[in-house]
Amino acid sequence: MSRQPILLVFGGHGQLGRALLRRARLAGRHCVVLPRAAADVCASLRVHEAITRVQPDIVINAAAYTAVDQAESERASAFAVNRDGAANVAWAASEAGIPCIHVSTDYVFGGAIGRPYTEQDSPWPLSVYGASKLAGERAVSAANGKAVILRTGWVYDQFEGGFVRKMLELARRRDRLQVAGDQFGSPTHVDDLADAMLTLAARLVAGEQPPARLYHLAGPTGLSRFEWMEMLFALLARHGGQSVGLQAVAANAFPTAARRPRNSMLDSTRVEHDLGLRLPPLIDALERCVLTWLEADPIADGVNGAPLEHRL
Ligand SMILES: NC(=O)c1ccc[n+]([C@@H]2O[C@H](COP(=O)([O-])OP(=O)(O)OC[C@H]3O[C@@H](n4cnc5c(N)ncnc54)[C@H](OP(=O)(O)O)[C@@H]3O)[C@@H](O)[C@H]2O)c1
Repeated sequence: MSRQPILLVFGGHGQLGRALLRRARLAGRHCVVLPRAAADVCASLRVHEAITRVQPDIVINAAAYTAVDQAESERASAFAVNRDGAANVAWAASEAGIPCIHVSTDYVFGGAIGRPYTEQDSPWPLSVYGASKLAGERAVSAANGKAVILRTGWVYDQFEGGFVRKMLELARRRDRLQVAGDQFGSPTHVDDLADAMLTLAARLVAGEQPPARLYHLAGPTGLSRFEWMEMLFALLARHGGQSVGLQAVAANAFPTAARRPRNSMLDSTRVEHDLGLRLPPLIDALERCVLTWLEADPIADGVNGAPLEHRL
């Protein structure tokens, strides 16, 4: 009997890494996630050792330096992980003769156009983080011509940090919240992203060759942060949660060290056309968030308010 394919995830204790493990377990798939302490992607030898030890059939690089504002003053660290570390993973997968999926970001774009970005649009990063991720895409392609690069954006869940969680927590203490009305993106529930990545991984392991190497894979609805939160809190109220008054303000009401694109909506048509992957509607993903949030007892949850079964 042939063994089940093994998926190895670098950066496995981050938001996406945890979701890949959670969703792989649910689907009965064999997934090994390695945190930085077990395999620092900046150390090429450690990456090779991990692949030799685990003997995966495919690797996913979910490791990244993601502190967008801090990156402005830590350029070298951001590039070390997001460019050089990414290349190490892609190179090691190529050496091992196995497929590789790399994850990139909507922040490679400058935000000046008024529609969702396609893969044909020219990147123009505004921040060190965005520049380091773009350099990572190029380094990955150079190291491994078969690596598949997935750009996603505005990744969220209800369990840990992130924008949705932050807003739900704020709503417990305040009855009015201000949200940027002039920043547009494509909210992507991390579980939906993980499910699509697992599907893609299985197909790459089976030998499928995607027609392209770069894909946008994000939630299907592009909207402003304000509209996103309007939808979230309408669902919260509908399901018996508290009502919250929202006010749309300019993004520059919240000064940050890094510049963010005014628009980083992603057009995911290519991945749907080539690979049949389409993430579920935003309203469904948000409703799942709201229902899980309301089910969890915020007082009994303990540290971070995260339900125990999700603290992997
Ligand atoms: N979150 C978003 O909204 C978003 C949007 C677009 C694209 N993305 C991309 O999606 C991917 C996953 O992001 P995420 O949201 O899961 O971020 P995350 O929660 O910050 O996770 C990143 C993980 O990478 C690990 N890491 C950092 N440096 C490492 C190294 N040298 N070696 C190994 N692991 C290292 C971190 O470990 P430590 O905890 O030890 O630092 C962390 O667990 C990234 O490529 C990110 O650029 C995210």
